[in-house]
Amino acid sequence: MQEQIKSINTLEELQALYTATFGKNGTMTAKLKNMKNLDNDARAKLNRENVALRELFKSRQTELENAAMHAALAAQRLDPSLDILPENRGTLHPLTQTLSDVSSILESFGYEMWTGPEVEDDWHNFTALNTPEYHPARDMQDTFFLENGNVMRTQTSAIQIRSMEKIGAPIKMFGIGATYRKEMDATHSPMFHQIEGLYIDTDITMSDLIADVREFLKRFFEMDDVELRVRPSYFPFTEPSIEIDMKWHGDRWLEIMGAGMVHPNVLRNCNIDTDKYQGFAFGFGWDRLAMLKYGLSDIRKFYDGDVRWLQKTGF
Ligand code: PHE
Repeated sequence: MQEQIKSINTLEELQALYTATFGKNGTMTAKLKNMKNLDNDARAKLNRENVALRELFKSRQTELENAAMHAALAAQRLDPSLDILPENRGTLHPLTQTLSDVSSILESFGYEMWTGPEVEDDWHNFTALNTPEYHPARDMQDTFFLENGNVMRTQTSAIQIRSMEKIGAPIKMFGIGATYRKEMDATHSPMFHQIEGLYIDTDITMSDLIADVREFLKRFFEMDDVELRVRPSYFPFTEPSIEIDMKWHGDRWLEIMGAGMVHPNVLRNCNIDTDKYQGFAFGFGWDRLAMLKYGLSDIRKFYDGDVRWLQKTGF
């Protein structure tokens, strides 16, 4: 019997033999039932045999269970030495990379990053920005109007208003996000992105604006110096308003951003004391900056989700 138990190799067979031995009609059960007819020595012997057999079953069961567990683990084992396919590695989208470059530069100048809702109300997108309903500047932007009178945000300038309403002055922030206008060609997409800086304090001048923009562009394009040109322009929310161009590869001027001193009406709309505070704002196309830096020509590619394009341009 003992040899038989040791030679069993499956839990099922062991269970069957156990039942045949200790079950209701088992061989050992029969012997134990007959115990009363035995003399003392024979009883003692039978008892020892009973205990020893049970232990043997138990230890063989443990052995078989361990063996089964090891076999299962071996079958599931991962092979960490296999190479992953390089094609499956992700890349950063050029816009993500650009935002990370832009925000680390602006944050190092002390600007704090803000976001805001993409569906804006009339107040934040236009009225508070000194663009009342009858103002012709509302026609400059082909706006997506919603049925309830809200708009798809046409400019991140709306985030300026929200930040000034919440924090007041002094404030040094930049707003980032998606913006929407009804236009579409290789350099315009109905959804695009803007980044906009705002700095309001007691002694802020146009020179501070130019200094920050110059330093920002130098760092962003990794150039020793940048040649800038400032042209007068018009935005309802800045006075005076300017357009800043940058000399590109030594031969042509590129329009880089709109900027200006924040119009006192805008500050007043945000309950900021205009006798005490003034400041500047500047805004540019986040997509456009990415296209310039990475030599991309079609803005629509940013939103196609074409993995092959992303792998070529990604980081
Ligand atoms: N919001 C302006 C635009 O969309 C850009 C701008 C921002 C101009 C801040 C001046 C100051 O064109």
